[in-house]
Amino acid sequence: LKKTCQINDEKIYKTAQKDPIKFWDNFAKKEILWQAPWTETYQHAGAYVKWFLNGKINITENIFEKNLENLGSKPAIIWEPEPLNENEIVITYKELFEKVNKLANAFKKLGIKKGEVVAIYMPMIPETIISMLALARIGAVHAVIFSAFSSSALKYRLENLKTKVLITADGYYRKGKLINLKAEADEAILGTSVEKLIIAKRANNPVTTNPNVDFWYDEITKNESADLKAEVMDSEDLLFVLPESGTSGQFLPVMHSHGGYTVYATFTGKAVFDFKPTDTLWCTSDPGWITGHTYTIYSPLLNGATTVIYEGAIDYPHPCRWADIIGKYKATIFYTAPTAIRMLEKQSKEILLTHQFNNLRLLGSVGEAIDEPTWMWYFQNIGKENCPIVDTWWQTETGGIILSSLPGIGPFKPSFTGLPLPGINLEILDENKKPCKQGVEGSLVILPPFPPAILRGIYNNEKSYIESYWSQYGTDIYFTSDSAFKDEHGLIKIVGRTDDTLKIAGHRISTGEIENAAGKTQNILESAVIGVPDELKGETAVIFVICKNNQNLEQTTQDVILEIKKEIGPIAQPKEIFIVEEFPKTKSGKTMRGILKKIYLSQDLGDLAVVSNPESIEKIRSIIHK
Ligand code: WT7
Repeated sequence: LKKTCQINDEKIYKTAQKDPIKFWDNFAKKEILWQAPWTETYQHAGAYVKWFLNGKINITENIFEKNLENLGSKPAIIWEPEPLNENEIVITYKELFEKVNKLANAFKKLGIKKGEVVAIYMPMIPETIISMLALARIGAVHAVIFSAFSSSALKYRLENLKTKVLITADGYYRKGKLINLKAEADEAILGTSVEKLIIAKRANNPVTTNPNVDFWYDEITKNESADLKAEVMDSEDLLFVLPESGTSGQFLPVMHSHGGYTVYATFTGKAVFDFKPTDTLWCTSDPGWITGHTYTIYSPLLNGATTVIYEGAIDYPHPCRWADIIGKYKATIFYTAPTAIRMLEKQSKEILLTHQFNNLRLLGSVGEAIDEPTWMWYFQNIGKENCPIVDTWWQTETGGIILSSLPGIGPFKPSFTGLPLPGINLEILDENKKPCKQGVEGSLVILPPFPPAILRGIYNNEKSYIESYWSQYGTDIYFTSDSAFKDEHGLIKIVGRTDDTLKIAGHRISTGEIENAAGKTQNILESAVIGVPDELKGETAVIFVICKNNQNLEQTTQDVILEIKKEIGPIAQPKEIFIVEEFPKTKSGKTMRGILKKIYLSQDLGDLAVVSNPESIEKIRSIIHK
C-alpha cells in the first residue's frame, strides 16, 4: 500500500517543519481552486487566527467546478436506506451539482442571504448533504443539529443561533421505527426566531403543515434552474458553525471558515485516507458531528471519492447489516468509532464466516482512544492484516485530523495514535509548561502556526472562546483539554479529556449538560455526573443525585432518566443512578466528581485533606455497593 499512496515520502515531515506556513501556502496554490489569490498567507493576532487573507474561494467550486470535467458521471453519494425493501440511491457528481444549484436558487428565492445562519435538523439522507452544499454555494452558514437530539436540545440551539430558517424532513427510519422528525421540529421552533421550515420528503409521513411556515423541499426546487455561479467568499468568511459541548455545560457553536477548512479537508483526505477518485468510503458518522462534516462529506467530495451514507442502525435488521453494506458497495475505506468496532466484534462470529471484506484497503478509527485488543481485532478480522488502521485524533475545533500516522509512511503501533501531521506542531506540556519527557503524561497543546482549519471563534461568545482555549497558556498555545504522552519514537498516545466532558460512544457531552437536565426534575436538589469506563461505549455516565424529599424515590429515579432523554436525547442516558444524601465537597463547596468516580471504581482515594465532609464517602460507598 505504501508504494501506491499519494503521500509516501517521509521527507514531507522535514519540509513542512522547516517552514509550515510555506508548506500550507504551496499546497493551497497547487491543489485548491481560488477565485482570487491571497495577499498574506497567515496571521495570528491575540486569540485570532487567519489563513489565506483576502483570498476568494467557495468550497463548492472545489467539489464541482474542479472535479466535474473528469468525474461528472462518477457516483458522489450512495445512499443506503434502512428498510431492506427500499432501493439505494446513487447520485453522480454532475447530478449532485444540479441538485445543489436548484436548491441554492430556491434558497435565494426564499430570501436566505450570504452570511445568514441556517439550521439543519435532518437524518442521514442525500438532501442533508445537498442542503449543506447549497447553503455554502450561496455563502450562507450551515448549523447542523444532530437529528437524535430532542426537541428541547434543538430549541436551545435555535435560540442560541437565532436562525430564521430550519431545514428538516418528514421522518426517517431507525431500528425499523419511523421517527417523526417534523413533529420534533414543530415543537422546537415554537417561540424561537424561526420563520420558515423547509421539509424534505423521506418517509411519505403524513405530517401536519402550516402554510405560513412550511415549505416542501420538492416544491421549492421543482422549477429552479440547475445553474448557479458560486458566491464569491472571502477565505475567512464563515462556512459553518457546529454546536459542541464545552466544559461545565456550556454550549459552544464552533466556527469554521471557507479557505482554511477547504485546504485542510482536502489535504488530510489525501494524506490520512489517501482518497482517490477510485475510492468508495464509508464513514459511519452522522453529519450532526464534525466527523460527518469533514470525512463523510467535504473531504471525500473535495478529493473526488464516492461517499456512502446509511440511514439507520449498523446492526439493523440483523447484525450483518454493516458488513453487507461494505460488501454491497465494495467499500475501499471504512472509518468508524471504537464503540462501533467493539459492537461489531461482539456480534462477529457469523459475520466473519460469511463476509470477506476483500475490497477494503484502509481502516480508520476516531472519537475516542482505541484500546489494543479492539485495534488487533479490527486489524486481523476486518483488515485481514492487509489494511493499515489510521487512528485519528482531532476535535470539532480543529476541523480536521491533527494526529495520525500516515498510511504511506507509518509507523503503526496499536493503541498509539501516531505522529502529528506534517505542518502541525503538537507538544505535551507539564505543570510548569515545559515539554514532558518520553513516557510522562501531560497536557496536549497545539503550537503556532495554528492549523489552517482551527476554529475561528465561538459564535456570539467571545468570552467562552478565550476562556475555553486561550486562558490556560495564553494566546500562543492552544489547549486541547486532552492529556497524552509520547513513546521513544515520538508516537503519541492519548490518555483522555482533563475537563468535565465525557466521551460517550465517541460523542462529547459535558457533565454540566446532563446535570442541568437532571436538575429540571421536580424532586432533585443537586446532581453530579461522572464518566466511567464502559465495555462498549468506551465511557458512559453515572449520575448521583440528592433529593428534596424522600418520597417516591423510585419515581424520582425514572423521572431523572426521562428528563435527561427529553432534554438531550438517548445518548446522554446514564447507566446508573444513585440517590445519596450529600456529595464530597471542597471547603469552598465545589462537588468533587473525581472522588465520586474513585469511590465508584473502588480506587484508592488518595489524600482527603481537601474534602470538607469526608464522612459522606463511606455512606456513598455503601449505597453503591448495595
Ligand atoms: C475529543 C474531541 C474528532 C472528531 C470526533 C470527536 C477525543 C477524538 C480521538 C482518538 C483518543 C480521541 C479527544 C478529543 N478523541 N479522537 N483518535 N483517540 N481520543 O470530536 O466531539 O470534538 O471530541 O474526542 O478527547 O478532545 P469532538
